[in-house]
Amino acid sequence: MSDGHSAPVGSAPVPGAPGPVLQAKGVSRMFGSVVALNDVNIEINPGEVVGLVGDNGAGKSTLLKILCGALQPTSGHLIVDGDPVVFHSPKDSRERGIEVVYQDLALATELSVTENIFLGREYRREGFLKRAHIIDRPRMTKDARTTLESLAIEIHNVSARCGLLSGGQRQAVAVARAVRWGSRVLLLDEPTAALAVMEAEKIGKLVGEVARHGVGVLLVSHNMPQVHQLCDRILVLLRGHMVADLRRGETSVEDIVMWITGAALVRK
Ligand SMILES: Nc1ncnc2c1ncn2[C@@H]1O[C@H](COP(=O)(O)OP(=O)(O)OP(=O)(O)O)[C@@H](O)[C@H]1O
Ligand SMILES: [Mg+2]
Repeated sequence: MSDGHSAPVGSAPVPGAPGPVLQAKGVSRMFGSVVALNDVNIEINPGEVVGLVGDNGAGKSTLLKILCGALQPTSGHLIVDGDPVVFHSPKDSRERGIEVVYQDLALATELSVTENIFLGREYRREGFLKRAHIIDRPRMTKDARTTLESLAIEIHNVSARCGLLSGGQRQAVAVARAVRWGSRVLLLDEPTAALAVMEAEKIGKLVGEVARHGVGVLLVSHNMPQVHQLCDRILVLLRGHMVADLRRGETSVEDIVMWITGAALVRK
């Protein structure tokens, strides 16, 4: 916030580490007279899990949509790997390795796990069959299994329709797809909101696994214990302002809640 009460925003660079993979600088977004985001700065480093929390309407989804190109900022800009970028759609951001996973829009339910992982990127048969553009199913199946195994995702039948999977398994497949295609940043908007405790825990583990592959993760969630457990840093939005950038080791669930409600600002 511009009133001098905010905690420092933006992590200090770690000496010797590569720079941030994704940055937002001075991003604001208006909806008519509603200021959904006000001069927001963030950065996500490779292999870092960053939590994004805030009350209903704080601006979290708006920020995620701007980061993936589904919405454009009213002012401010984005930087990927040090380059200023303008995203007109999620297709533009995907080309720069940014993938977004929503709870319900993640997968085509009529298609199999393998087909979902390869959607739009199918392998074709080589050799004299190449010109017939025949899909190479055995190779795709093998690759899909390897991808799921590398992330410790337990789905035994990759030929099963995704509509038959549980919510948590669907989320896991969506995350696996993002990782398989070399995503550098994964944006997750409340991935565990509709999940049972066990499934939410599995997605939590998966987030850690993804980060170990060097992917930067931005996780929007209302589940404070999970955010505190999973995230290296926690960003707090309050009515469109980024009011805190907290390191896990230096904060508690109670502190985070104080920032979300604004009580931490009053206390200072
Ligand atoms: N398409 C839109 N048109 C008009 N106003 C919008 C639109 N999208 C978001 N807003 C407004 O912007 C503000 C931020 O909304 P946003 O969806 O980003 O909040 P959020 O932090 O994701 O909340 P929640 O936790 O409830 O998902 C709210 O006041 C909301 O009403
Ligand atoms: Mg939201």
